[in-house]
Amino acid sequence: NKVTLTVIKADIGGFVGHSSVHPKVMEKAQEVLAESDLLVDFHVTHVGDDINLIMTHRHGTDSEEIHKLAWDTLVACTEIAKELKLYGAGQDLLADAFSGNVKGMGPGVAEMEFEERKSEPVIVFMADKTEPGAWNYPLYKMFADPFNTIGLVIDPKMHDGFFFEVHDLIENKKVLFSTPEELYDLLVFIGAPGRYCIKSVYSKQGEIAATSSTQRLNLMAGRYVGKDDPVCIVRCQSGLPAVGEALEPFANPHLVSGWMRGSHSGPLMPVSLQECNPTRFDGPPRVVALGFQLAEGKLIGPQDFFADPSYDEARKMANKIANYLRQLGPFEPHRLHLDEMEYTTLPQVSKKLKDRFIDADAPINIKEVAATK
Ligand code: 13P
Ligand code: 13P
Ligand code: MG
Ligand code: MG
Ligand code: MG
Ligand code: MG
Repeated sequence: NKVTLTVIKADIGGFVGHSSVHPKVMEKAQEVLAESDLLVDFHVTHVGDDINLIMTHRHGTDSEEIHKLAWDTLVACTEIAKELKLYGAGQDLLADAFSGNVKGMGPGVAEMEFEERKSEPVIVFMADKTEPGAWNYPLYKMFADPFNTIGLVIDPKMHDGFFFEVHDLIENKKVLFSTPEELYDLLVFIGAPGRYCIKSVYSKQGEIAATSSTQRLNLMAGRYVGKDDPVCIVRCQSGLPAVGEALEPFANPHLVSGWMRGSHSGPLMPVSLQECNPTRFDGPPRVVALGFQLAEGKLIGPQDFFADPSYDEARKMANKIANYLRQLGPFEPHRLHLDEMEYTTLPQVSKKLKDRFIDADAPINIKEVAATK
């Protein structure tokens, strides 16, 4: 009685600019998914300008049928986006036609197949204005930090720790670390979230516990098309982090890459669905957490976790950090490091200025230069 939980998301056009998704686009996604008989259940939502299709079914991960359904849904949504001339209509649909799996075609995918437990609480985290590496810090806290997750200390089923599958997005390689024994090895890599991303976390019994979307859209496209605003699924309770342990890392807004033009560092602000439309400098980056209880594959929910006023202080802190960073304007570390700027439009500008550079030892006659001005 295995169930698959698949979340597929894309930015197929912003309303207005990069801030949100138009209601007619949401309606279209709802309509297309409702017509399909492939799904057990689904829930359509959005965070910022990214539309999220949360689906349950019996077809396993990487199912061509399910991926095609999501692709067709996003294509139908793009038609509406084009009609309304929404911003960047079709932005994340990089291919012209579906070719078996949406991976590598633009949309983000997180999916897992598992035996539904007696009670199956899951959280779908969805972020806008950032990248998949944004999950490294919270996933580490949830599954490896006893100061965040007391279950690692007091729950005999968690006491042995977890496996972390880390992907190198540049070299296209992966590695499995076992915690707590290899904590320090794990941190060598996941502390660099622009390159190394936690793809999945497994229990020591080999059960899937968490999985994220990891595609680096800007690299796939070979030109700047925005950050690949990520999603992450976390299963909770009974040998896995309690719901509150999975949410706790977001009470301390960590810095992530993304924000304006995908070129800045900023705090990841936990918000409710009501507050999920980034506007200040197109941000700051934000994350929504929707909880569901699965019941024979049905999505019972959602529970909008960050609507809880206990995250007010995190939002306040995020705003303070945002104020501080914004004062730096185009200076690092608010603006991303040059390596990261490689995937933005900056190289086009620096290329234009390349010929202006002369040898550092060559003399400059400043009087002569001044006279020509
Ligand atoms: P309740 O007593 O409200 O069910 O809480 C139990 C618990 O373990 C909370 O973390
Ligand atoms: P999105 O990736 O959310 O479209 O944001 C792109 C951007 O450039 C925001 O300023
Ligand atoms: Mg956008
Ligand atoms: Mg977005
Ligand atoms: Mg995007
Ligand atoms: Mg209870």
